[in-house]
Amino acid sequence: MTQPPCPAPTKTILRALAGERLAVPPIWMMRQAGRYLPEYRATRAQAGDFLSLCYNPELAAEVTLQPIRRYGFDAAILFADILLVPQALGAELWFAPGEGPRLSTVTTPAQCDALRPVTDIHDTLSPIYETVRLLRRALPAQTTLIGFAGAPWTVATYMIAGRGTPDQGPAHALKAADRATFQRLIERITEATVEYLSAQIEAGAEVVKLFDSWAGSLKGQDFDDFALAPARRIIAALKERHPGVPVIAFPREAGPRYQGFARATGADCVALDNGISAEWAAAHVQTDGCVQGNLAPGHMVTGGEALVSETRRIVRAFSGGPHIFNLGHGITPDADPDNVALMIETVRSCG
Ligand code: CP3
Repeated sequence: MTQPPCPAPTKTILRALAGERLAVPPIWMMRQAGRYLPEYRATRAQAGDFLSLCYNPELAAEVTLQPIRRYGFDAAILFADILLVPQALGAELWFAPGEGPRLSTVTTPAQCDALRPVTDIHDTLSPIYETVRLLRRALPAQTTLIGFAGAPWTVATYMIAGRGTPDQGPAHALKAADRATFQRLIERITEATVEYLSAQIEAGAEVVKLFDSWAGSLKGQDFDDFALAPARRIIAALKERHPGVPVIAFPREAGPRYQGFARATGADCVALDNGISAEWAAAHVQTDGCVQGNLAPGHMVTGGEALVSETRRIVRAFSGGPHIFNLGHGITPDADPDNVALMIETVRSCG
């Protein structure tokens, strides 16, 4: 007797990731749990600081659920941060109020050697897996749970500089001055990312996303070596351990290098920033499978007719293939929650 085929996924995000074109694109939003929501600010105040919120499974699950309750997004994204991986590897991490993240730096072979072994990261990260387990129990049946990690290059830029940088100068400088140490750091983060994402999937994440926020500053061969190759390695390892779990890759500001990225890395979907034209991406990226994006986050601040017409234009541009509607980058704290509702209403009425 022949085996029945695998059942087709029923959740809209999973259907789009499997390559299905849907009449109404599913929608979620980067940083959908965040400071633009009064209920987030209240829970964050209860937790104390941002890292305490990340490591408190009940409260992290609560803020993850808040935008689902308020808006009914098709996916929830685990509430955590890409910089928890460096912390789990032994870097010190703190958030200076109003200034963003600060880390102890890793720039020498000795500092690289002093990082904790990859197998030890779960000691630090186990509360995150508990958040995932709580969420799988609490989420509505139609809502997909997305786990995530930072891509090695983006995480390395923070570990090398000890902070966010406008041009990733310190990371580029180490890459030029001591390529062996730079390469070792990338490898260590790559291995840790496989273990971290794999543990999220085991805890119940149904999709994982790899954020390479600074991919756009890698040019030429560097893009191949440090954006493409680590993503390919991570995705191959995850596909071997967890076949069927889709991966979204976000090589932000990759420009023309978005073309072929899914094929070269094995990603099921490429997330697009708002610097790339939706019409161009439909012709050159969506031909390989699902795309996600790419409304400019500024529309969540300004709203109005421009929000509506831009949302419609993006839905229309991607209407010929699989598409998950999203912003091109995270929503900002000054956004108006009513504009988020308007975006969702527009997507769901014009599909
Ligand atoms: O999307 C989500 O809602 C899930 C949670 C999430 C956060 N950070 C929560 C967060 C995700 C997916 C991230 C990813 C992340 N973190 C990235 C990649 C995506 C991107 O934005 O490019 C990066 C580069 C970071 C590192 C980071 N974390 C920075 C630079 C900052 C400070 C800037 C800022 O927005 O304040 C953070 C803090 C952070 N991460 C906040 C949130 C909700 C704000 C913290 C607060 O509440 O004060």
